Amino acid sequence: MSFDPLKIRKDFPILDQKVNGKSLVYLDNAATSQRPVQVVERMNEFSLITNGNIHRATHTFANKTTEAFEQAREIIRSYLNATESAEVIFTSGTTESINLVAHSFGDAFIHEGDEVIVTEMEHHANIVPWQMMCERKGAKLKVIPFNEKGELSIDTLDSLITGKTKIIAVTHVSNVLGTVNPVATIIEKAHLKNIPVLIDGAQGAPHFQIDVQTLDCDFYAFSGHKLYGPTGSGVLYGKRKWLDQMPPFLGGGEMIDRVTFGKTTFNEIPYKFEAGTPNYVGAIGLAAAISYLESLDHTLVLKHEQNLLQFASEKLKTINGLTIYGEANEKAGVLSFNIEGIHPFDLGTLLDQLGIAVRTGRLCADPIMDHFEVENMVRSSFAFYNTMEEVEVFYQALIRLKAMF
Ligand code: ALA
Repeated sequence: MSFDPLKIRKDFPILDQKVNGKSLVYLDNAATSQRPVQVVERMNEFSLITNGNIHRATHTFANKTTEAFEQAREIIRSYLNATESAEVIFTSGTTESINLVAHSFGDAFIHEGDEVIVTEMEHHANIVPWQMMCERKGAKLKVIPFNEKGELSIDTLDSLITGKTKIIAVTHVSNVLGTVNPVATIIEKAHLKNIPVLIDGAQGAPHFQIDVQTLDCDFYAFSGHKLYGPTGSGVLYGKRKWLDQMPPFLGGGEMIDRVTFGKTTFNEIPYKFEAGTPNYVGAIGLAAAISYLESLDHTLVLKHEQNLLQFASEKLKTINGLTIYGEANEKAGVLSFNIEGIHPFDLGTLLDQLGIAVRTGRLCADPIMDHFEVENMVRSSFAFYNTMEEVEVFYQALIRLKAMF
């Protein structure tokens, strides 16, 4: 049995249109994925039919919205197999989730001379918040390098970890190289020394079903908009044992227990970390996206995504002068490359003229650009609604454009 993307493409009407006179081939899913109608309809319900601010009033709209918001939290808890819904914090996305941990965990646990470990293949969102925190605290950022295949040199981890290491933050899947990192091994090694691990799941959650208890990660961060959900929505999963000890990130309404001018006491988790009116429509939409994913056969979806990636890799490798960045044994959804003699921005623009959407640029990952000594790359990235025919169209377009130069 195999997954038939044509059967579910009706749920994504945005895909069925012409761009620059050509049938759209959307291969920029790692930047943002498209949303099924089920998500949009659920969100519309909370704009057109029912809308009330959550947790703050007793009127019918407020009650219904609060109920949907907390139901969304429970849907996500169950999807992640978290022990309790209080460990699911709604954020605006992966970036905010990581900033929250860097800030609050950093405040509670990181002191001068301490160390934080990240990897060379992180997105800026999993470098800069740690760097900023390290500067504030006088702590040191250490880096696990990757090899030419784009795989982490995991054997360096043992020597990087010291008695001063306070946290390890690593991406599940590289947004540039597509590498699926051995996060379970990293967590196991870290836990032997009682070091918590944060996983940046922005590119992992869209491809893999995450069981936070099996993985035993301390924090897992992901975004709604890369997971077929709305922009401005996201999640930070965190183990209660850490979240309880961490001070709030932002101050404001709802995150408090009692405020006086002399002293403020704080609410319990998750509310302690949800200051102000959250993007509750986004959270409800994100849960709808997760319910949509749960309605699909995940094993077949993953196999289809792997087939797309493998087919695209095989095809692109036949193009003379094309360099693929990232050839890890385990990859997911992402294929970055350059073609000799064609500027990546030109290639991106010309592909767009042919209706094909890819990402170009530094891909929010300067250290990866530095590693390969390139200024920019072109990135294609795949979702389950893409078809083999679209990959073929993409390949033919590259052949055609290469011939032009
Ligand atoms: N982080 C997103 C990407 O890699 C925007 O494209």
